[in-house]
Amino acid sequence: MLTSPDPESHVYSSPPAHANADWTIDQDWKSYSEEEHKVWDTLFARQKEMLPGRAAQAFLDGLDILQLSKPGIPDFRELNRILKDATGWEVVAVPGLVPDDVFFEHLANRRFVSGNFIRKPDQLDYLKEPDIFHDVFGHVPMLADQRFADYMAAYGRGGLRALKFGTLKQLARLYWYTVEFGLIREAEGLRIYGAGIVSSYGESVFALDDDSPNRIMFDLERVLRTEYRIDDYQQNYFVIPSLDELLRVTVETDFKPVYDKIADMPDIAIAEIIESDEVLTVGTQAYAQSRSGE
Ligand code: PHE
Ligand code: FE
Repeated sequence: MLTSPDPESHVYSSPPAHANADWTIDQDWKSYSEEEHKVWDTLFARQKEMLPGRAAQAFLDGLDILQLSKPGIPDFRELNRILKDATGWEVVAVPGLVPDDVFFEHLANRRFVSGNFIRKPDQLDYLKEPDIFHDVFGHVPMLADQRFADYMAAYGRGGLRALKFGTLKQLARLYWYTVEFGLIREAEGLRIYGAGIVSSYGESVFALDDDSPNRIMFDLERVLRTEYRIDDYQQNYFVIPSLDELLRVTVETDFKPVYDKIADMPDIAIAEIIESDEVLTVGTQAYAQSRSGE
């Protein structure tokens, strides 16, 4: 689940009749069809093959800890027994995108909200709204890592603050460039940990191997100012030096003075490189250019 302010996606303004007051619903695991379990297995096999040498160690460890290679769509009751024990997190099902305050309140209380539907067999490569494969395969393995688990809960609290300050647009960029599309520098090289990348067949190669995108070392203020695209592969990826460092800079920094400071500064365009950037790869942007001509 992501908080992208996509005007075309369907957002209810109050919980639908079949949902609880906190917008959660029963996953109703028994109601998944054979075909739906097969879609999960197909997507899983494809990603699993891609991940060695690409996914962050914490992500690979998470898959193991949570026993996600078991065939079929995971049953949240089973998954939560392990996840809760590991880091205090659980996964709860919701009918679709939920309002920002509801989303943050869940995160702050270590509940990750997941769509409970799965994409159709003809949508393996792309769909607009996050389904259970994106939400569970993409997001949940990292939640088995204590540092990332603490980061996400802190992000929820930060989200509630940002709503009060009117700075959600800035904070959402942090989520986008870490939780969804983050890269991490490990001893053997760059690795992917963002859910939007690890759950995408195409982007898990593109993000690491393609000459097109910029790869820039993570800087909090810079990221909060940077626009992003929701309709195609990213043109920028931000690289964290470690999960400890991500946790440290976000938790130890009071964002209020940062929001105040950047309020007077211009946003940074998607593919722009600024003077203070520590750039690892200057992208050719060839891919983005080829797509904009379509
Ligand atoms: N420290 C941030 C604040 O003051 C909260 C936060 C923590 C945000 C971790 C994101 C991630 O708002
Ligand atoms: Fe997501």
